[in-house]
Amino acid sequence: MTALDVVIMAAGKGTRMKSSMPKVLHRLAGKALVQHVIDTARSLQARSTIVITGHGAEQVEPALTLANAADHLQFARQMPQLGTGHAVQQTVPLLPDDGVVVVLSGDVPLTQVDTLQALLDVCDGKQLALLTIDFADPTGYGRIVRNPSGQVHAIVEHKDANDAQRAIHEVYSGIMAVPAKLLKPWLARLDNHNAQQEFYLTDVVKFAVADGVPVVAHKISDAAQVAGVNSPTQLAELERAFQLRQANAFMADGVRIIDPARFDVRGHLTCAQDVEIDVNCIFQGQVSLGQGVKIGANCVIANCTIEAGAVIHPFTHIDGEKLGVTVGEGSLIGPFARLRPGAQLAAEVHIGNFVEVKNSTLAKGAKANHLAYLGDATVGERVNFGAGSITANYDGANKHRTVIEADVHVGSNCVLVAPVTIGAGGTVGGGSTITKSTEAGALSVARGKQVSIANWKRPEKKPKA
Ligand code: UD1
Ligand code: CA
Repeated sequence: MTALDVVIMAAGKGTRMKSSMPKVLHRLAGKALVQHVIDTARSLQARSTIVITGHGAEQVEPALTLANAADHLQFARQMPQLGTGHAVQQTVPLLPDDGVVVVLSGDVPLTQVDTLQALLDVCDGKQLALLTIDFADPTGYGRIVRNPSGQVHAIVEHKDANDAQRAIHEVYSGIMAVPAKLLKPWLARLDNHNAQQEFYLTDVVKFAVADGVPVVAHKISDAAQVAGVNSPTQLAELERAFQLRQANAFMADGVRIIDPARFDVRGHLTCAQDVEIDVNCIFQGQVSLGQGVKIGANCVIANCTIEAGAVIHPFTHIDGEKLGVTVGEGSLIGPFARLRPGAQLAAEVHIGNFVEVKNSTLAKGAKANHLAYLGDATVGERVNFGAGSITANYDGANKHRTVIEADVHVGSNCVLVAPVTIGAGGTVGGGSTITKSTEAGALSVARGKQVSIANWKRPEKKPKA
C-alpha cells in the first residue's frame, strides 16, 4: 500500500459567512468544519496531514494545533491566495515523493471515509483519480469533459466553459487523489491564463492527459458528501444532514428517536438497548445511556453516564464537564433539574424540579424532590432532602462539605452550613439553619420560636387631612 498524505485547502476567505471568525473554524455538530476533515484524514490513516492556511491563519493554526496535540499537523501558508493550484503548490516542500496525495477542502466536512477509500482504490497508486458528481444545476462548478470514448480529458471551470461544456452535468467535487511524483511536476507547469486569472489545480488533468497518465473519475450520488459551506444557510443545511445521518445510524441500532429531525449529537453518544429519546434533546461531549433509559423532551445532556432504567424528565440540564456526572440505575431526574460536574447519583435517586446538584454523592434511594441545592455534599441512603433546603457550602472564600448520613430527613427551607454532619436517622425541622453537627437519631430545630399574639389589630391608614 502506498503511503497517504492528505492536503486540506483552508486559505479561502469565506466572505459570505459575514463573520470575523475564519470560515473553517465555524462549528458543525460542535466541531470546527476543518476538524471534521482532519478527523477523516485520521480515519484514512494518513501518514501526514497538511493544512493550507491563509485568511485567518493566525487564528486557524493555533486552534488546530491545540485541538490536535496528539497528531502531527503541518501547515503551509498561502499568501496571497491565487487559486487552488497555487494553494497546493505551497505544500510541495512538505510532500514526500513516494506517497499518494489526497486533496480535500476544509469547508467540505461530510465526505465519508469509504468514499475516499474508493477514490484511492481507483487511483491505484499510479493514476489521477477525481471524485465527481452529477448536479441538476452545475452552475459555478468545474465540468468533467470526456472524449467520445468516455475518457476524462479536462476539467473546465464554469467561467471558462463554452455553451456545450456548460451543458455537462458531471462536475468536479474538489477532491482528487494523485501520486506525489506526478503531482509535483504538474503543479510546476500551472499558469493563470484563464477567466479568473487564478492558478487552477484542475489544470493538472490536461497535463495528465498530455503525459499519457490515465485520469479516472469516481462518481458518487450523495451531494452532502461534497457540499461546501459558504454561508450560514449552507452550514445549517449540512448540520441537519449530519444530524440526520447520526439519527438514522442510532435508529438502525434500535434507539427509538421520536423525531430524527429534532435530535442533535455534538460529540459522542453511546446507547444500550431500548433507549427512547423524545424531541429537541442535545447530547454533547461523551454521553452514555444504559439499557431502557428514557430521555424526555428538551433536555441538554453533556459528559455523563446514565445507567439502565433511569428516566430523565423534560427540560433537564446535565453537564459533567471534566468531572463527569453519573445517574444510577432506575433514578428519576427532573423535570427542570440541573446536574453539574461531580454529581454522582447511585441507584433509585430522585431529583425533582428546580433541584441543583454539584460535586455531591447521593447514595441509593436518596431524594431531593423540589427546589433544593446540594453542593459538596455526601448524602446517605434513603435521605429525604426537603423543598427549599440547601447546603451552604461556600463561606465566601473556601468550599466545605456537608455530610448527611443515611435515613436523615431534612425538612423544608433548611440551611445546612458546612462543614457540618447530620447524624444517621436524624431529623432537621423545617426552617432550621444548622451550624453544628447533630447526633444520630436526633431532632434538630434551629429557628426563632413561634410567637402568636391573640386578637392582633393590623395598623390602619390615617384619614386624609
Ligand atoms: C473548485 C474547483 C472546481 C470544483 C469546485 C468544487 C478549481 C480551480 N476549481 O472551484 O472545479 O467544481 O472547487 O467546489 O480548483 N482555496 C485556497 N486557496 C485559494 C483558493 C481556494 O485555499 O487560493 C480553498 C478554499 O478555501 C476552498 C477550496 O480551496 O476550501 C476550494 O475553493 P473554491 O473557491 O471554493 O473553489 P472553486 O475555485 O470555486
Ligand atoms: Ca474560487
